[in-house]
Amino acid sequence: MMETELTIVILAAGLGTRMKSAKAKVLHSAGGQTLIEHVVDTALELTRPDRVFVVVGHQAEQVRKALGSRGVQFIEQVEQKGTGHALIAGRKALSPLPGQLVVLYGDCPLVSAGTLRRLIARQRESGAAATLITTTLEDPTGYGRVLEDAAGRVQAIVEQKAATAEQLRVKEINSGIYCFTAAEFWAHVDRIRPDNPAREYYLTDIVEILGRAGHTVRSMRIAEPAEVLGINNRIELAQVDALFRGRKVEELMLAGVTIEMPETVTIDSGVQIGMDTVIEPFARILGSTSIGEECVIGACSILEDSQLGRGVLVGPFTIIHSSHLEDGAQAGPYSRLRMGAHVETGAHVGNFVELKKTRLGAGSKAMHLAYLGDSDIGQGVNIGAGTITCNYDGVDKHATKIGDGAFIGSNSTLVAPIEIGERAYLGAGSVITHAVPPEALGIGRARQVNKEGWARRRRKA
Ligand code: UD1
Ligand code: CA
Repeated sequence: MMETELTIVILAAGLGTRMKSAKAKVLHSAGGQTLIEHVVDTALELTRPDRVFVVVGHQAEQVRKALGSRGVQFIEQVEQKGTGHALIAGRKALSPLPGQLVVLYGDCPLVSAGTLRRLIARQRESGAAATLITTTLEDPTGYGRVLEDAAGRVQAIVEQKAATAEQLRVKEINSGIYCFTAAEFWAHVDRIRPDNPAREYYLTDIVEILGRAGHTVRSMRIAEPAEVLGINNRIELAQVDALFRGRKVEELMLAGVTIEMPETVTIDSGVQIGMDTVIEPFARILGSTSIGEECVIGACSILEDSQLGRGVLVGPFTIIHSSHLEDGAQAGPYSRLRMGAHVETGAHVGNFVELKKTRLGAGSKAMHLAYLGDSDIGQGVNIGAGTITCNYDGVDKHATKIGDGAFIGSNSTLVAPIEIGERAYLGAGSVITHAVPPEALGIGRARQVNKEGWARRRRKA
């Protein structure tokens, strides 16, 4: 059958009172993305950005910002008088658009593009004026109940607040996902009245209205209720988050990633991980992080917006943010890398070492207890335990440069701006305030004095 034109409207204007939050509900995150981003990205799998409309109201600016460069359209619903009212608010932009009209709720982020495609095809082929997704829930509390006649046509949806005791026993619920024939929808939407206990314009009333006008409304029942779970409070937010996490780890495991105790790890949807990489328990891998093949991510490590090459070893309890580790690099246990730290091929960063805006050249090592900030460190450099770059003078940050092959003795203090030449040595415990030329030995510490018998004399006194 011929494809028809498709418009998708996503309702996202409500505050979400039951979230008990100053932040609009659709701006809360699950699976590492805001709810509205999930829904919009699914919609964009089905139609062009100029045919995806988001109804905004509460914190409209932040919602627009969250959707950034996706290029979707926005409709302002200044006062939130219900889901039906949200569509009426968009009448001017929406009603001239022919074809099919899909309505989604911004608080229902798990629905897949595949399920929506089936809904759209079903509505088109059945000739019904509307088809809506339903499912059966053991505990349907809070959802609209779907009333059907003997022939399986949907007669009405009754909201929890308006339902009779008998209707409340119905376990078939309205998912809030609908596909309409746009022309029929716009011809009848004005009949929705706020004649319910909440004084709201319920979109769900359109079902009965279409029926009375002689149209058919059908349901598409889905077996997997998880896909249509709506989020109204933070318990449901956590449940949906867990479902997203579960989907992601399963996808990665099927693609050849070993994940130990997968129920303990947190991996955002945008993360990429190569084959034969091992993720140990309680790791958190967030944002746009990408990890190559054959890496190990140690237990309890946190990686965010970072790039790891092939065969990178990250020890337990390591925190890596906005940084880059090349092939064969190692970090941790207990390292912290941030703000554009760059660990080149085969370089090692060990326990209690912090790198900030610092390049550690190929094969270089900083194995214990060091702070290396605003530094450019060459290849084959050894950074002794306890080395500190003094990059901050209380007003400005200054750079440190260390040439290839240099040996920085333990407990060196490098007062920036400073440059240590290639293959130079620094004596342990030095405070270095002047440049050290290549191949030189720099020592900046008081000479040791031994006072013979001093301890004995002190005891007698
Ligand atoms: C709605 C349905 C219910 C269904 C359930 C599925 C109605 C009347 N009820 O109930 O049948 O079982 O979803 O999850 O539609 N919104 C606006 N403007 C408004 C009001 C709401 O944009 O004026 C947006 C909200 O931001 C939210 C979505 O619409 O994203 C749904 O609103 P919500 O209040 O959560 O509806 P439910 O009570 O869950
Ligand atoms: Ca809801």
